[in-house]
Amino acid sequence: MPPDHPDLTWRDGVPVSARYGDAYYQADGWAEASHVFMEGNGLPARLTPGFHVGELGFGTGLNALVLSDAAPCPVAMTSFEAHPMTRDDMARALTPFGGGAALVDQWPAERIALPNLDLRVVFGDARETLPAWDGQADAWFLDGFAPARNPEMWGADLLAAVGRATPPGGTSATFTAAGHVRRALDAAGFDVARVPGFGRKRHMTVGRRR
Ligand SMILES: C[S@@+](CC[C@H](N)C(=O)[O-])C[C@H]1O[C@@H](n2cnc3c(N)ncnc32)[C@H](O)[C@@H]1O
Repeated sequence: MPPDHPDLTWRDGVPVSARYGDAYYQADGWAEASHVFMEGNGLPARLTPGFHVGELGFGTGLNALVLSDAAPCPVAMTSFEAHPMTRDDMARALTPFGGGAALVDQWPAERIALPNLDLRVVFGDARETLPAWDGQADAWFLDGFAPARNPEMWGADLLAAVGRATPPGGTSATFTAAGHVRRALDAAGFDVARVPGFGRKRHMTVGRRR
């Protein structure tokens, strides 16, 4: 694992990356994750045993906790993260969401057992680790920082790798409605749609693999 911890500041209890100049989520992070990533991918209704979720940007692990909480059966998740948080920062970030002890107590690790969730975290730059991954994900949480601040997470090559790692009928969801992200997802094999976003964001983007 890279010793490359993120450089954090805190705004009203929400961690903010000094490196990328962006917050990990909006103030109501649990509701945001439920709207953008769960509902955006038609979850939890699609969850069946062995269903696999992929994520770009593990961050605080909040999305993993939301998935674990909603999963009615054992499912899997693989998340790609270049700058893993320290355990202390993760514990502080998850305090408003019940503390996330089940995750924090095991962090950091490449394999973590949560209720109904077999979680793997792949450490390193997703531009290198995702193309080398031999898995497939039925749904993707595309959760880099904002494209303008973290363009590495939204490049056409990386999103093409997401497309290759998604079977037909698989889905993706992201908080951003940036045109170049929508076009890159389309080029990666997804039919994309703009749908209502969370909070102050008017729109977000969902995709279904052709
Ligand atoms: C918005 S945060 C993710 C929030 C997270 N999903 C959660 O539930 O807290 C974006 C994450 O992407 C990570 N990241 C940024 N660039 C990356 C890259 N090139 N490869 C992998 N991870 C990256 C950051 O370190 C950060 O943890």
